[in-house]
Amino acid sequence: MDPRPIGIFDSGAGGISVLREIRKLMPWESLVFFGDDANAPYGTKPQEQVCGLSQDAVRFLLGKDCKAVVIACNTATAAAAAFLRGKYDMPIIGMEPAIKPAAALRKDGIVISMATPGTLGSRKYSDLMARYGEGVVPLPCPGLMEFVERGDLGSEELHAYLKQLFLPYAERLVDAVVLGCTHYVFLRRTIAAHFPPGTAIVDGNLGTAKQLARRLKETGLEASSDGEGAVRIYSSGGEESLKTFRRLYEAEDEA
Ligand code: DGL
Repeated sequence: MDPRPIGIFDSGAGGISVLREIRKLMPWESLVFFGDDANAPYGTKPQEQVCGLSQDAVRFLLGKDCKAVVIACNTATAAAAAFLRGKYDMPIIGMEPAIKPAAALRKDGIVISMATPGTLGSRKYSDLMARYGEGVVPLPCPGLMEFVERGDLGSEELHAYLKQLFLPYAERLVDAVVLGCTHYVFLRRTIAAHFPPGTAIVDGNLGTAKQLARRLKETGLEASSDGEGAVRIYSSGGEESLKTFRRLYEAEDEA
């Protein structure tokens, strides 16, 4: 049994959707969240830079005595997971766009894979596409995470952005949409409104939380399930970002 906290980081508010999922699955674990707003977005930066920023985030979490780290960011996972695993001797759990489960839902239509340019341009993503990518169309969404950072989950401006983004697929049959960036998980309903009812909207958050649970068990790092863990939230971006993080963390609705 290990009462030390689990560290979770992202470029910003998107990782809060992962924090929520982990909290739901393991309320007895203490969690420390770090959102690197001061350096967001990661998705339009070169991989080496994202790798350096991810290492800084891990250092911050180690300073909080974390026993494991969740990279709650598809972009940072693609850029830095292998490097971080080589460097730190502790469980490091990453994320990838949920193309595999989405591809299993495909019938006669296509799967739209929404992610940052950084994720879609990564080696990790091409490997994933080579295995499960039949009928999967990549859709880079530069600028979309910024709406969530501002706490905007459904304005007219956001709907106009999405309408333009999905325009090339307006006449296509879409079986599933992959939310391949943790920020987009907060936009699930807003995105779903642009597709016929019944279109599957798929994310990787629950899979990540379950993978974390498995790794903690394997390594004997689980906390005792008797108590309730503490949750601490930090931001490199100051008070305004922290307020948005807290509001998204405490929101009643499902992310
Ligand atoms: N939330 C991040 C992801 O899952 C990236 C957003 C960004 O910083 O561009 O990819």
